[in-house]
Amino acid sequence: MNGEYTPLCYGWIKVSARIEVYVARKFNVQPFLWDRPPGTEHERVRGILFEYIEGNTLANIQITPQIVNDIRSGLKGLHNASIAHGDVRASNILVQCNRVKWIDLSASLTMPHIRISKQKLREIQAFERQDLEIGFALLSSVRFFVYALFIEYMRLTEPASHESRNVCC
Ligand SMILES: Nc1ncnc2c1ncn2[C@@H]1O[C@H](COP(=O)(O)OP(=O)(O)O)[C@@H](O)[C@H]1O
Ligand SMILES: [Mg+2]
Repeated sequence: MNGEYTPLCYGWIKVSARIEVYVARKFNVQPFLWDRPPGTEHERVRGILFEYIEGNTLANIQITPQIVNDIRSGLKGLHNASIAHGDVRASNILVQCNRVKWIDLSASLTMPHIRISKQKLREIQAFERQDLEIGFALLSSVRFFVYALFIEYMRLTEPASHESRNVCC
């Protein structure tokens, strides 16, 4: 599953200050150099190293039926492995050359869990699948709406030529 539905995860690493600053700049976030607990100022921050996907988030691409199917399969793959993603949204789906990867599992739930039963996990997973389908439905209705608006606009801006054509008829 690792690397199939998600970017390949290499596991925990200790990050040097130089790399921490580099990554923070690249993703336009704050490094945590200023926020170490007392006594740990010189310790390297711990992080989880993931493969970098040279892709786009779902919000920035032309979605195809294949991509939609891959997104569904990816979520199903996570669910089958007893994981709930925890943050289903377009910015957490990366597409690279028509290949889909789910990212940002920071809010994910896995089994065994101290507070969540298997049944509860299944319910959360069902909500996630529902959220995804609602997202797709909204996206297609928004696109349909924009398309309908465009057609209507073209029709409204055309009366002069229509009239002249009608006159000719
Ligand atoms: N493995 C990755 N490869 C390429 N870009 C990534 C990767 N992980 C995250 N990103 C980029 O960073 C953004 C934020 O990452 P994310 O893990 O979703 O953090 P958060 O939403 O908690 O800020 C993503 O929307 C994506 O653009
Ligand atoms: Mg995110």
